[in-house]
Amino acid sequence: MTRISLTVDGASVSEDVEPRMLLVQFLREKLGKTGTVVGCDTSNCGACTVHLDGHSVKSCNVLAVQAEGSEVTTIEGLARDGELHPVQQAFHECHALQCGYCTPGMIMQSVDLLNDNPKPTEEEIRVGLEGNLCRCTGYHNIVRAVQTASGQEVNAS
Ligand code: FES
Ligand code: FES
Repeated sequence: MTRISLTVDGASVSEDVEPRMLLVQFLREKLGKTGTVVGCDTSNCGACTVHLDGHSVKSCNVLAVQAEGSEVTTIEGLARDGELHPVQQAFHECHALQCGYCTPGMIMQSVDLLNDNPKPTEEEIRVGLEGNLCRCTGYHNIVRAVQTASGQEVNAS
């Protein structure tokens, strides 16, 4: 076991972990943060995306010990004072989810995308989200949601 200390969704945590434990397992099994989900476990789907020191990572592709001393934000830490994050709100308004399984990762990736590029083109949004798979929506409303969150006009078609 290895002791790790880090900040998760604004709270300091310190836990003993197996050196091979994945960050996603740590979040779900040690901290009960089940809002972060596992879709593939092979770093393909993006469902497990969280922020590590402000940048999105696939948490099935990071060891918990690698997060030592870091700041992790999950989908559960995005809302502030009971208010949805603007990207969460836009996903809601644009009906950018169906089953919702991809949604936590899709939103975390979208927030990172908009932090890097506050006014992305449709093409830049599609490229920025290409590591996140959705088998329900056909992506159109997800792109609209990111455009909406960025304050851009959205083509209604
Ligand atoms: S569960 Fe991590 S990328 Fe699919
Ligand atoms: S809403 Fe079902 S996988 Fe994206």
